[in-house]
Amino acid sequence: MKAPRHFISLDDLSPDELRRVLDRALHLKAARARGEQVLTLQNRVLGMIFEKASTRTRVSFEAGMAQLGGHAIFLSPRDTQLGRGEPIADSARVLSRMVDIIMIRAHHHADLVEFAAHSRVPVINALTDLNHPCQLLADMLTYEEHRGSIAGKTVAWVGDGFNMCHSYIQAARVFGFRLNVATPAGYGPDPAIVAEADGQVMLTHDPRVACRDADLVVTDVWTSMGQEDETERRRRDFAGYCVNEELMALARPDALFMHCLPAHRGEEVDAAVIDGPWSVVWDEAENRLHTQKALLEFLLGVLD
Ligand code: CP
Ligand code: NVA
Repeated sequence: MKAPRHFISLDDLSPDELRRVLDRALHLKAARARGEQVLTLQNRVLGMIFEKASTRTRVSFEAGMAQLGGHAIFLSPRDTQLGRGEPIADSARVLSRMVDIIMIRAHHHADLVEFAAHSRVPVINALTDLNHPCQLLADMLTYEEHRGSIAGKTVAWVGDGFNMCHSYIQAARVFGFRLNVATPAGYGPDPAIVAEADGQVMLTHDPRVACRDADLVVTDVWTSMGQEDETERRRRDFAGYCVNEELMALARPDALFMHCLPAHRGEEVDAAVIDGPWSVVWDEAENRLHTQKALLEFLLGVLD
């Protein structure tokens, strides 16, 4: 049996393949705007395993499958045997004999990797503690739609050096942009991921240094899912890392602002920024739908 293609990190697709997925996403977006049906995934079933909460990821995958003529099944550990201790490998063997493709939002990246190793069908990373590659497909498409190619541009990451930051570091290498990462001491990204970035990444503790002349400023929550007991400490440690109008004034005049959402106004971003002229967060959220439809088509071999 041929080994399935997975999407566990951006590196699982070549730059050419990522380009095809983004181009197809634009095509699917335009077709939907014209009211045209695209039924490329009829009779295909997506299994969706969510160990953590989700609004955008769940709805974009489920709506995307329905729009392409397929079906999606929401699987929560609360009501499957996975949550009662059935081994990950066994669950992967069984589910992948029943559905055509699987997406997983997992606490531990290693669990996703183990699942994929035992799956007969493609597995998509829908966020782990390590990275969030699906979000980057949407973010890259959103930048291109508003400003053209991101290659050679400067992106500022302000906040926690966690899963979203890791995916931005990987994207810097794959899409060819410079990345300035500003985190408080003790919240920097994984050095192994930084080391793979071929010198595209600059680390600082000063958000002003990161944002100076940036074409795009990006942030994320200070307390990610699973870190709730650290909320108070994080609020103290991240004081000064709120993306506000003063920081955006240091960026280029045509700079954009992105946030994967959910957002906390007054914490990691001021309302004046996320609801202001720089912000493209609603387009960014919508593009989760179009990019993941294209990704599903690609992994299922429908996109030649
Ligand atoms: N950005 C994102 O993944 O949102 P959800 O947690 O709502 O899926
Ligand atoms: N860093 C956030 C991203 C949510 C989409 C989290 O892991 O909760």
